[in-house]
Amino acid sequence: MDARMNICAMNASTMSASDFTVWMSAQQAQVEARLSRWVPAEVPAGLGEAMRYAVLDGGKRLRPLLVLAACEAVAGHAEAALRAACAVELIHAYSLVHDDMPCMDNDVLRRGKPTVHVRYGQAMALLAGDALQALAFELLTPAVDTDANVPAAMQAHLCGLLARAAGADGMAGGQAIDLASVGQRLNEAELRHMHELKTGALLQTSVRMGVACGLDVPAQVAAALGDYGAALGLAFQVVDDVLDVTADSAVLGKTAGKDAAADKPTYVSVLGLQASQNLAAQLSAQAHRALDASGLPQVAHLRALADWVVNRTH
Ligand code: IPE
Ligand code: IPE
Ligand code: MG
Ligand code: MG
Ligand code: MG
Repeated sequence: MDARMNICAMNASTMSASDFTVWMSAQQAQVEARLSRWVPAEVPAGLGEAMRYAVLDGGKRLRPLLVLAACEAVAGHAEAALRAACAVELIHAYSLVHDDMPCMDNDVLRRGKPTVHVRYGQAMALLAGDALQALAFELLTPAVDTDANVPAAMQAHLCGLLARAAGADGMAGGQAIDLASVGQRLNEAELRHMHELKTGALLQTSVRMGVACGLDVPAQVAAALGDYGAALGLAFQVVDDVLDVTADSAVLGKTAGKDAAADKPTYVSVLGLQASQNLAAQLSAQAHRALDASGLPQVAHLRALADWVVNRTH
């Protein structure tokens, strides 16, 4: 292991709910501080303000938590992981800004606040999304005069993973299928494919990016953590579909009931509510089995995240 590396590691393989809450709050605070430092305010014509509005002070930060927990599991490079955590959150935040625009889901509420296009106008929302996407890759490739010390090969690997998950074979492609599916009756396999792309890809890649911060991670360990990310990623969107039906807007911080109103196929519309909840629980169990298969000792936070994803209320 490179002597310059800070190692993120801890011991427990299981943990109490309060230990998890403490860990989660500490990671979220760390991510928030870095995002606040890295998302610039001094950008021309109000673009920086719109970018900061889109990113700061909101969201569960699940994707960063997955990066950091996966990095911890493989005792990886802490600074690379923090950059990767923020980068994936920037891609996610950009996807939400565009998802909410009138040409897509036409939503007015996000993270308990008016959506970016409502607050700043559509053109600025478009540009804020564009600029957040570019900034994500800047964070992954720190300038040589910083003290980040992320090895060049690791930077390149992280960029490739994030680019693939964000693009046509990942989030953007899934969003295209989502829009093309309005009013359609998808079968379960088609629905699963859409969800795996639009949401699952970025969540699975969060885990993979954490793993990519490790050195010499055995292929079967990386594969097991990839399986964990795939199961958790799908479970997450199944629960998103469920919460759209069962939760209210005040708790969600976004408009409830939108999927049925927009005639979108969802797990609830295709399988029904109870079967969707059962599926989410099965996928969480599958994620736990993948962690067993990894053979890694330091997976307590990944385990807790697999439970949190299906037990969440928002
Ligand atoms: C919402 O994601 C959009 C989906 C991909 C389903 P999150 O539920 O993670 O949103 P935030 O980041 O917590 O606001
Ligand atoms: C959005 O899915 C997935 C993204 C890539 C942003 P949804 O449209 O279901 O997300 P919400 O419910 O608006 O957060
Ligand atoms: Mg959408
Ligand atoms: Mg939406
Ligand atoms: Mg939704």
